[in-house]
Amino acid sequence: MSRVDLAELDFFSPDVQECPFHVYRQLQDEAPVWQMPGTNVFVVTRYNDVREIIRDPGRFSSSFSALLNAGSSNDDATAIYQQGYEMVETLLTQDPPRHRVYRNLVNKVFSNKRIEGMRPDIEAITESLINDWIDEGEVDLLNRFCVPLPIYVIADQLGVPRSELTLLKKWSDASASRLGRLADEDQQIQNAKDIVEFQHYFADLIDRMREHPEDNIISDLANNTIDEGRLLTKPEALGMIQQILVAGNETSTNAIAGGVVLLIQNPDEQAKLRGNPELINSAVEEILRLETPTSGMWRRATQDTEIDGVAIPEGSFLMVRFAAGNRDESIFPCGGDMRVDRDNADSHLAFGQGTHFCLGAQLARTELQVALTALLQRTDNWALVEGKNSLKHHPNVLLRGLMDLHIAFDKVS
Ligand code: HEM
Repeated sequence: MSRVDLAELDFFSPDVQECPFHVYRQLQDEAPVWQMPGTNVFVVTRYNDVREIIRDPGRFSSSFSALLNAGSSNDDATAIYQQGYEMVETLLTQDPPRHRVYRNLVNKVFSNKRIEGMRPDIEAITESLINDWIDEGEVDLLNRFCVPLPIYVIADQLGVPRSELTLLKKWSDASASRLGRLADEDQQIQNAKDIVEFQHYFADLIDRMREHPEDNIISDLANNTIDEGRLLTKPEALGMIQQILVAGNETSTNAIAGGVVLLIQNPDEQAKLRGNPELINSAVEEILRLETPTSGMWRRATQDTEIDGVAIPEGSFLMVRFAAGNRDESIFPCGGDMRVDRDNADSHLAFGQGTHFCLGAQLARTELQVALTALLQRTDNWALVEGKNSLKHHPNVLLRGLMDLHIAFDKVS
């Protein structure tokens, strides 16, 4: 693969984001902490550097929402946002010690017991989705499986009727698009409308759950207390629900879809997994490592500091590239290759580490294990349908996900 001229590299351009792996490799070799020319942004690509940064919230703050909002500051969108609720920093963009207050609350709400209790529901949803197309021999797997599965799971847990799938998907897409900062003006306005609609829908639901509590996540968020025993404000609760919705939908969808493509492109590994179904957990970790649905995240330097010998001035932004770290050859030999029985696949950074370690990691792992196990058991001879797959990804600097996935298959009788 040809080397790029780093002085000219536009790292966040859609072309580089579509196929970034040779660029990651070059950066790791030549400039592992690379300052984007003419900016105060440093792109970090080596595993150990990424890890050092995300485990040190004192030096590297997650308070980067000003940066996320910078791309969506057109006047029309701003006016629309004013009809909704203010954005409050709760989880992803909050630092300790305040972060801990919110995180303790959602840890309770997302307890291991609750997630384990969800497994039968995830299995039932998976089976019923497959039943819908199992006799057709060809399926739009993205829209008829990978998208609805995590949305139905989270809808059940949030206490939202499954009939609202289209709304949940729309709101989740809008929030993801806002996060990814590649939306054009029209898209920014549509995002604003969708996000405000989401806020009003859930604000009403919070009221209803406060009047009549139920056994679901919204009810728990609505009725648990923080600080000196007060309930969450609406903006606090909405901020958390929005993160759970986006983080939980897009990423899991993208991991399942990406996993199926990897297994199609690596038939020997697929055969190994079919022959040894007990490898499913390590195969899922390998898929998370290679796909890394959250390709990267932001941090802000709180002081003049240094990473891997490179001086980082206070106030600089760091783009920590989980997807690059996950292919670092010093940690994962032949890191671009899929090996469903790789020993250390679960050392990947796909869920981050430390303070902001993914709240939904256990849920996502369960969804992936259940989904891939059922697909492998009930269908065989997978192939990408010619002419229907671009294999391109949505333009987004933080989240990586396929735009389409149509597969042909045989039903296992
Ligand atoms: C394959 C699926 C998933 C991937 C790859 C993923 C990835 C990540 C990553 C990398 C972070 C850390 C970000 C940082 O360090 O700044 C994170 C945080 C988070 N994730 Fe996930 N996630 C997934 C699924 C989920 C699910 C299913 C949920 C919830 C239902 C969820 C909720 C969250 C939340 C709320 C945070 C913020 C935690 C905090 O700041 O304390 N994620 N996720």
